[in-house]
Amino acid sequence: MRGKFITLEGIDGAGKSTHLAWFADLFRQRGIAVHVTREPGGTGLGEKLRQLLLDPENPMHAETEVMLMFAARREHLDQVIEPALAKGEWVVCDRFTDATFAYQGGGRGVDWARLTQLEEWTQRGLQPDLTLLFNLAPEIGRQRARGARSADRFEQEQDDFYRRVREAYLRRAREDPSRIRVIDASQSIAHIQQQLTDIAGALCR
Ligand code: ADP
Ligand code: TYD
Repeated sequence: MRGKFITLEGIDGAGKSTHLAWFADLFRQRGIAVHVTREPGGTGLGEKLRQLLLDPENPMHAETEVMLMFAARREHLDQVIEPALAKGEWVVCDRFTDATFAYQGGGRGVDWARLTQLEEWTQRGLQPDLTLLFNLAPEIGRQRARGARSADRFEQEQDDFYRRVREAYLRRAREDPSRIRVIDASQSIAHIQQQLTDIAGALCR
């Protein structure tokens, strides 16, 4: 049977990394093989593109950014995600195309319809079975992320940018409410874990 494809989304500092491995383990405990991966990245080429994309020394046009994100994604789908799902493995991915709509669409102002065309071209109809959107005010995300390590090219953006990113994520959630579950990321880690346990249980039923 084909595996399930689950993605985690949210602004920087919303808590994705905190919950990713723990969430994947919920499925492993049920005997499901899980492949954990991330975007941009997840393949040799994709990780090289990630370095270019995140490097503060590497400014680029917003549409260049879009195309590099989708280039990395095409490779990721072809090399990693599709083969794993076909084998029956589940794939848990730290960010996917909702991040392109949020950061490049909302944050940078790239046309939504253009992104939709690239999404269709790259994914040929494939969508995650479930997306967890960690919803958090940018001010809190920034406080949480502060001091973690030196800021990458996106983390150097101001709160205004992140407000637009957050709004674009919520627009995606409104457009596809059956796929995208919005999690209130301002709750305690324990509360969020309880919700994730319930969501995982429902998905395995
Ligand atoms: P992301 O991967 O979304 O950028 P992280 O998981 O790295 O975010 O979390 C950023 C920081 O916030 C970490 O130091 C983490 O321990 C902390 N954190 C994550 N979730 C919560 C939470 N619900 N409450 C308080 N602190 C949190
Ligand atoms: P992220 O995965 O959050 O890594 P870390 O937690 O180590 O900082 O960082 C990736 C950055 O790339 C993040 O700021 C969001 C950005 N991004 C986009 O702008 N568009 C995309 O399509 C994707 C997948 C990520």
